[in-house]
Amino acid sequence: MSRTSLFETFAELEALAELEEKHPRPWELISGLKLPVGVRGRWSLTREEVPAGHVFTVNNLRDVVLGGAKGLKVKFDEAIEIHRLREHNGRSMDPDKAAMWVSDHPAEVYSISRALEGFGGRVLVGGLGIGLAVAILESNTLVREIVVVERSPAVKALVWPHLKTKRSRIVVQDLFKYLRTHRGHFDWAFYDIWIDESERTFANTVMPLYRLSSGLVTPGHVRCWKSEVMLVQIRTDIEVQLTLYEASGASGTTTVTGGGNAFRIPEDRFREARHWPSPWLGLAWAYYNWARNLAGHPSIEELRQALTRFMAALTDPEAWDRDWARWYADEGDKC
Ligand SMILES: C[S@@+](CC[C@H](N)C(=O)[O-])C[C@H]1O[C@@H](n2cnc3c(N)ncnc32)[C@H](O)[C@@H]1O
Repeated sequence: MSRTSLFETFAELEALAELEEKHPRPWELISGLKLPVGVRGRWSLTREEVPAGHVFTVNNLRDVVLGGAKGLKVKFDEAIEIHRLREHNGRSMDPDKAAMWVSDHPAEVYSISRALEGFGGRVLVGGLGIGLAVAILESNTLVREIVVVERSPAVKALVWPHLKTKRSRIVVQDLFKYLRTHRGHFDWAFYDIWIDESERTFANTVMPLYRLSSGLVTPGHVRCWKSEVMLVQIRTDIEVQLTLYEASGASGTTTVTGGGNAFRIPEDRFREARHWPSPWLGLAWAYYNWARNLAGHPSIEELRQALTRFMAALTDPEAWDRDWARWYADEGDKC
């Protein structure tokens, strides 16, 4: 689900209305950025004025259901400007066909500000975007130095010269390469180099970033944009399977039709489900693989306790390597 479509999709769900509250300090959700519109190569930066009184959804249904957040709305007494950074494909500059990387819609200001809470010292930022994270960190007096790693020279050209920076510098490089070669230490890191909040992004991008950060960033001080939503998706999927497992009883035959039961998939289909695309079990494959190799019919308590350990290991490369990597290994393909 992209950063644009989730707002459009869930804004329509009026059923959520009674769960929603007004944000108590709306001014905190105005980015204060003033970037000129422009185009550089495949990238464009636009600005749109949204009139006073417009109601913005700050936390959408996905955040509420998956992220455990409260539904939040906000409106302002004056018009605000929203910047959008897009990457266009081919020769078309049609915004509807472009990838929308980031905006300073109040929802993004909110999610990025929350991710940066508690930061201080020397900070690494992966992905410049429109410089929203940089602006928030620049206003935090506990932050001494900010190093931004951005892959695209075009994004740097569109954004960097227009930011008010005192303690920041930018390195134009792929973040993965930077993490593999950098030798300094960071007190905190914030990574935001993806568009969607899917499990696949967690497996392919977020998890490797946690791994590359160990030894470079203070343990437990790596924050990844919307990783909590990605993790809840993984956990929720497994919990549904645990319910199916429980419902199937000691006989091992599921009583619930449709969707199958990951604990009971025949071996050949289970091997298939290790790899993208569908039926892809994602990182949870390691958990099911472990469970399938337990002797007898494991108790639901045993499986639930292991789920807690499994979830913790997803953001802890050492624990993953120790307890789960061997259950994920298949045909030489390791996480
Ligand atoms: C979602 S935006 C970042 C938004 C940013 N957090 C902000 O506050 O505006 C993602 C940015 O990451 C950059 N990016 C994508 N992949 C990258 C990589 N592998 N290394 C470094 N930067 C990358 C993109 O060019 C883009 O500028």
